[in-house]
Amino acid sequence: MAINKPKGHSEEYFGDFRDYWYNQDFLELMAKRWELSGVQNLLDVGCGQCHWTRIVSQFLPEGAKVTAVDADAKWAKESSKLQKFFDEKEIDFEIKQSDVLELPFADNSFDAVTCQTVLIHIENPLDALREMKRVLKPGGILFCAEPNNLVASILKDSITADFEIDEIIDWFIFGLIKEKGKINLKQGDNSIGDLLPKLFSQLELKDIKVHISDKANCIVPPYETDEIRAILKFRLENDFEEFMKAETKEQFETFGGKYEEIRQRIEQKTKKYKSELKDAIENQNYYDVSTALMYLVSGRK
Ligand SMILES: C[S@@+](CC[C@H](N)C(=O)[O-])C[C@H]1O[C@@H](n2cnc3c(N)ncnc32)[C@H](O)[C@@H]1O
Repeated sequence: MAINKPKGHSEEYFGDFRDYWYNQDFLELMAKRWELSGVQNLLDVGCGQCHWTRIVSQFLPEGAKVTAVDADAKWAKESSKLQKFFDEKEIDFEIKQSDVLELPFADNSFDAVTCQTVLIHIENPLDALREMKRVLKPGGILFCAEPNNLVASILKDSITADFEIDEIIDWFIFGLIKEKGKINLKQGDNSIGDLLPKLFSQLELKDIKVHISDKANCIVPPYETDEIRAILKFRLENDFEEFMKAETKEQFETFGGKYEEIRQRIEQKTKKYKSELKDAIENQNYYDVSTALMYLVSGRK
């Protein structure tokens, strides 16, 4: 199966695998639960390429204003495609560089404040949420989409289904060491979604609600939809070796060499898995649900 080569950066804004994280009817239900049709003024924090901003904006009323911020200056600099997208939808859109810990807005500015997969990268998510609450109007809604990323390491696909028990345990421990290593490095908790209700409660947000995205993928041959092609493209192009060398090594090192044997074992297994994945896709023999545990947590100020 031929999977397209990566496109130029700006073209990656649309059709990326992150565009397929939710079912549209589930989003419609969440928009109703969060009462987004009454939100005139929304802030998306840690917006990146605005995948989440675009998703949420479709439910806002005519004339709504959307502000997006990210600590990384490049997203505001490279925003012409995004600006065009929002202009076409007649949404008043602005993107700025800003850290979630120091938002450049007055207290009580927004009807709704949101983020997706941002708190997993923050050393102290409580501080980030406190700042998000500060700029929220009284009665306004704070809603966050943040995952548990550990659960995925024990899900089967048609390749890992044949693994021995020891091998399955290795993958799980590997995920756990990476997650704890990232926390040790003060770079955030990849499964912060589990703890969001606690953090919302510590900030005395009201009417706290937790939902889970109902999205799972049906990856079966002949892999014809844009969605499945985007997911498989991401899986095949993901540079496992680079990832094992840099980020993973650093996370393992926080344990002072204690788990080095597992790291090396997984490094070998990852190479083998990647080559089996490539063959299985080419032979139209790969099956997966490729899902994640994504929490949607909301509360009111
Ligand atoms: C995984 S991306 C998520 C992007 C986007 N929310 C989405 O769902 O596609 C995480 C984003 O958070 C941003 N980020 C990380 N730490 C931040 C901080 N302290 N303040 C603001 N943005 C931050 C990163 O620059 C990155 O764009």
